Amino acid sequence: MCGIVGYIGHREAYSVIVQGLERLEYRGYDSAGIALYDGTNLNVSKTKGKVADLRSKLETEIPTIGSVGIGHTRWATHGVPNDVNSHPHFSNSGNLVIIHNGIIENYDSLRQELLQRDYKFTSDTDTEVLVNLIEDIKKNEDVKLGKAVQIALNQTIGAYAIAVFDKSKPDEIVVARLGSPLAIGVGKDEFFIASDATPFLEYTKKTVYLKDGEMAIVRRNKKLKVFKIEDNSIVVPYVEELQLNLEQIEKGGYDYFMLKEIYEQPQAIKDTFRGRMLVKEGIVKMAGVDDNLEKFKNARRILIIACGTSWHAGLVAEYIFEEFARVPVEVEYASEFRYRNPVIYEDDVIIAISQSGETADTMAAIKLAKKQGAFVFGVCNVVGSSISRITDAGAYTHAGPEIGVASTKAFTTQITILTLIALRLAQATGKMSNSVFRSYLQELDRIPSKVEEALKCNEKAELVASKYKDVSNALYLGRGYNFPVALEGALKLKEISYIHAEGYPAAEMKHGPIALIDDQMPVFVIAMKKGHYEKVVSNIEEIKARSGKIIAIVTKGDKEVKRLADHVIEIPETLEPLTPILATIPLQLLSYHIALMLGKNVDQPRNLAKSVTVE
Ligand code: G6P
Repeated sequence: MCGIVGYIGHREAYSVIVQGLERLEYRGYDSAGIALYDGTNLNVSKTKGKVADLRSKLETEIPTIGSVGIGHTRWATHGVPNDVNSHPHFSNSGNLVIIHNGIIENYDSLRQELLQRDYKFTSDTDTEVLVNLIEDIKKNEDVKLGKAVQIALNQTIGAYAIAVFDKSKPDEIVVARLGSPLAIGVGKDEFFIASDATPFLEYTKKTVYLKDGEMAIVRRNKKLKVFKIEDNSIVVPYVEELQLNLEQIEKGGYDYFMLKEIYEQPQAIKDTFRGRMLVKEGIVKMAGVDDNLEKFKNARRILIIACGTSWHAGLVAEYIFEEFARVPVEVEYASEFRYRNPVIYEDDVIIAISQSGETADTMAAIKLAKKQGAFVFGVCNVVGSSISRITDAGAYTHAGPEIGVASTKAFTTQITILTLIALRLAQATGKMSNSVFRSYLQELDRIPSKVEEALKCNEKAELVASKYKDVSNALYLGRGYNFPVALEGALKLKEISYIHAEGYPAAEMKHGPIALIDDQMPVFVIAMKKGHYEKVVSNIEEIKARSGKIIAIVTKGDKEVKRLADHVIEIPETLEPLTPILATIPLQLLSYHIALMLGKNVDQPRNLAKSVTVE
């Protein structure tokens, strides 16, 4: 969701900011804007549409000179996406300008108070209310910008990452965060501000991640000042050295990030178990789990909370944990869990899964579980993300940056790490024999090369895509471990091609979806040789009897389904609990090719955001 970029230093702010906004495009947005101070005037240009639209508009609209400025990509919450609602927003005097990611929940009452004091509003946004509140406090209490921001934020309810600039004090930018991420890049005599570190990677690796409830004043040629919003107390900033490099966030010869990330999966999976899985020795070790082994061993149950694709990975993990470690597992949408007064025991282990580590609903669910005394373990991809900080312990997937909005390598690496955790637990509780444990390690070790082999179905996926790209509906079926893969396959298609798709447990088909089947309906069936193969074959027969089109994902060498299906895509054989990692690959490629053939923006699908930092 909304992206924030700011710069103060000795470079041309315009190019740093616009390039930074391009790097944040993956977050999902519908409009973009920039404020630049040229030494005398504070100029703002903003537009509905893409950063490219902003680039062409602003060059004819405002001077692009100056070494301080702020920029924004907006994902609409309050008010439709249009030029006026785009950020930055001026205060009434025209002196202050603000960009904001998040939602000010009590904006309406604040707005009413300001209206009574003759403030005027041109947009429908909560953000314009905030900048005028800051202006009002600054004027009435005769305080500096930093203090005014601090007082104003203590009057707001909601979530935010903000950057505020005052043209009467052009050597500083004030930033703050609560619930939305904000990173400060510390260069030599210069500072960068951004929603994540990608906009400033080539300039500096030194980064300060603001914590919730902190604000900072970045000043030209001065030291960074960080303090708490609540009471103004000074915080000593912790400067981290980024482990990211530019290559990781570039397309590297691929047309789309999504395709690059699909092809990165063999390496990403290897990186997930690097140092954690010692095959020869028959050991799985993960500090986050090992240090809390008693908690895991004594868990009354495991509750998994997540959203979107991460929730699907949680569903796969439910099957794996119950099978391997014989511990009861429940998987919850974080957005439901947080509001339904759930029963949480002190001896529950909560596993929160989140690629970005910033999803607002997952954060809120974690806070709730912690408040009720549960131990919360985080599975995140983004190092240093908010969820990785608020959880009691955790494990990173180490998949590297995922930029395509439709999640791919995050999913397969989440399943990988959750499998490792389940194995560790099964071994510790003695629920799995040593020989079975070792056979899993050996097979997991082979998974990256099997993913590599599965990726060879790309041409076939493209061919199948060309046949079904014009459908309006699609059905995805799977059973057992591959039921969540059916959900994930359907989600991928919906997300990037806007084709309506449903995922179902294959056996449930007869309780509803079978009514939808006719000769126009493509049904993607995951029919692995392992597990409930015969049952799935029967489901395929039922589809065929109703003239449905069958596209089956099968185990290499399968003959039976080949006889029935219109198309088959083969993937290598593996142990049943590991089949989801392989079965997902052709479904990712199918969605990619369909979206591409339909001319959709594969990496930035409409209305979606990579990291959903508001409710
Ligand atoms: C958004 C993204 C999805 C993602 C979900 C959960 O909807 O578009 O790809 O699965 O959020 O995100 P998280 O970062 O918590 O895994």
